Amino acid sequence: MYFHKPRHGQRIPASEITSRQVYDARRDWLKTAGALGLTGLGLSAAVQAQTAGPGKLAKLPGVKSTVAGATVMEKLTAYKDVTSYNNFYEFGTDKSDPAENAHTLKPRPWSVVIEGECAKPGRFGLEDLLKVAPMEERVYRLRCVEGWSMVIPWVGYSLSELLKKAEPTGKAKYVEFTTLADKAQMPGVRSGVLDWPYVEGLRIDEAMHPLTLMAFGLYGEVLPNQNGAPLRLVVPWKYGFKSAKSIVKIRFVEKQPVSSWTKAAQQEYGFYSNVNPTVDHPRWSQATERRIGEDGLFAKRRPTLMFNGYEAQVGQLYAGMDLKKNY
Ligand code: MTE
Repeated sequence: MYFHKPRHGQRIPASEITSRQVYDARRDWLKTAGALGLTGLGLSAAVQAQTAGPGKLAKLPGVKSTVAGATVMEKLTAYKDVTSYNNFYEFGTDKSDPAENAHTLKPRPWSVVIEGECAKPGRFGLEDLLKVAPMEERVYRLRCVEGWSMVIPWVGYSLSELLKKAEPTGKAKYVEFTTLADKAQMPGVRSGVLDWPYVEGLRIDEAMHPLTLMAFGLYGEVLPNQNGAPLRLVVPWKYGFKSAKSIVKIRFVEKQPVSSWTKAAQQEYGFYSNVNPTVDHPRWSQATERRIGEDGLFAKRRPTLMFNGYEAQVGQLYAGMDLKKNY
């Protein structure tokens, strides 16, 4: 069966794909759990292994997402790796720093200010934000600009659901996201490694794209602090740094925002930062990636996919654009 042979190393081996049965069982479980408010009791080991975090944090189950491309059928990155190998410079620059230091972050009470070019600005408390739309489970690839990737089952809803509530005006061409910068809770903010607060931005059509996720949880539980509690962005076709953690402000603006990373090194981190294996970072290639958890001696790097594998969903957003210039 020649069509099962790997081509250009891009085919996913069967062993990497979450079995459909296990996957569907997980789905059904999440639905039931959501409806009944159950915990992980009485599940088969296989389903539990796919669904559950360690059960340390509050449950946050989601229903199956109907958004095209919202579910990648690849082996999930282990919860342990998702929560111990992080970039969250407000808590230090080593990968292990956030897991060690982020216990000082207080994710409740929390609120987000929505302002700028919109008819209904305001301050929204976390409890209200949680209720804006039904929580969905979405399994996305996350590709860091540094060359590693993970597959994470997020829980949240499309950012567009929240943005629509504020009724952006015709002048809202971009959306700027500002995250918490509190020296008392975040030891890294005392360092000058970035210009705090951490700021990111999206074009309005990118922000409104259904794949752009306002995430409140992962692995069926609320977000661990080191992953950006209590709410963060996940923009799966862009390098991970676009996915701002612990957001406190969302602002509709007319001009393209300047992100913290662009300020730090403009020639290295552009506004778009779409995952693109044909456009290298000035200091390294972006053609391949290391999947976290596949670190054995013989583990092969994976080819990086255009738009991180979401080209069918988002390619149109960039029709006619020179992606080498607009990196
Ligand atoms: N958000 C804030 N506020 N501070 C950060 O340092 N790091 C970014 C992004 N969001 C970062 C942030 C980077 S570089 C990546 S790759 C992802 O978060 C990592 O998310 P994860 O730790 O949940 O995998």
